[in-house]
Amino acid sequence: MILITCANGKLGERVVRNLLDRADAPAIQVGARSVERIDARLASRCAAVTADYDVPASLAAACEGIKTLVFISGNAGNAVRIPQHHAVIEAAKDAGVERIVYTSFSNPVATSRFKLVQAHVETERALAESGIACTILRNGIYASNLEGFVGNALKSGVLAMPSAAAKICYSGHDDLAEATARVALEAGHAGQTYELTGSEPLDAGDLAALLSEVAGRPIISADIPLGDFRAFLGTLGLDDAAAADLASIYSAAAAGEYATPHDDLARLLGRPPIAMRDYLAALTSTEG
Ligand SMILES: NC(=O)c1ccc[n+]([C@@H]2O[C@H](COP(=O)([O-])OP(=O)(O)OC[C@H]3O[C@@H](n4cnc5c(N)ncnc54)[C@H](OP(=O)(O)O)[C@@H]3O)[C@@H](O)[C@H]2O)c1
Repeated sequence: MILITCANGKLGERVVRNLLDRADAPAIQVGARSVERIDARLASRCAAVTADYDVPASLAAACEGIKTLVFISGNAGNAVRIPQHHAVIEAAKDAGVERIVYTSFSNPVATSRFKLVQAHVETERALAESGIACTILRNGIYASNLEGFVGNALKSGVLAMPSAAAKICYSGHDDLAEATARVALEAGHAGQTYELTGSEPLDAGDLAALLSEVAGRPIISADIPLGDFRAFLGTLGLDDAAAADLASIYSAAAAGEYATPHDDLARLLGRPPIAMRDYLAALTSTEG
């Protein structure tokens, strides 16, 4: 039995769909903090349980009888997320889970300029010490993080982004979910760490050029100063510390932390990951 946590999230839901759509679909259990927000059609095809990272008893119950745990990282700040992730690992250990597939993030090192990556540094360390066989998936920056910037660019003709000159190898949710499902189901991945980046290092100028092609009109790029971006995050309701933590991903990008493409995603998928031109074309058609 495979348990997928955060099964109501964008990544978790796609992992579940991938597993259920396979001809050799395994028995799966879907877990979430908010079970009622798991897609009803998916939930009807498997067991759905509460798996709240803040409630150890729910994790203990969810992990019972589980062989493989697809542990999707939570989304709180480090001070909350690190103990949450320890609780997941403890529950898995107590329940005798045989393997954990963990969704980490690119460049999980203590010296990273991206503050929130410390939760992944600590979780990878705790997993290594747990004695449980693990597969670490270091997901690259989601292409979906571009949605707001692209939506604005299609209206204004200017793709304005923080750290506009930074090259980033974006990866798409669909590709990451398919790779995660394969790794969870197939043998031979225990003890492995995969760098799941896209294959194209692109800065805002490169993205604007692709966007111009797919939208059929000129779109230029521009830089958003990091201070302005932090202030914008504040208007969305984040306090100063949370905004600084989130925005620090662009300091890390500017330092080149996400500029190196890896071929692990293509190898796991058995095909190239989505081309960013195709990703932007699909986004452009939905954004209008
Ligand atoms: N690679 C990147 O660029 C990038 C960007 C953003 C995030 N991430 C990481 O990737 C993860 C998955 O991404 P996503 O796109 O699927 O994010 P998402 O759609 O925002 O989903 C986040 C998930 O975390 C769950 N969660 C939050 N707190 C929880 C708790 N206490 N217990 C159990 N579940 C909890 C949420 O459940 P509820 O519905 O109950 O809130 C939701 O299912 C994120 O959680 C984050 O760690 C990566």
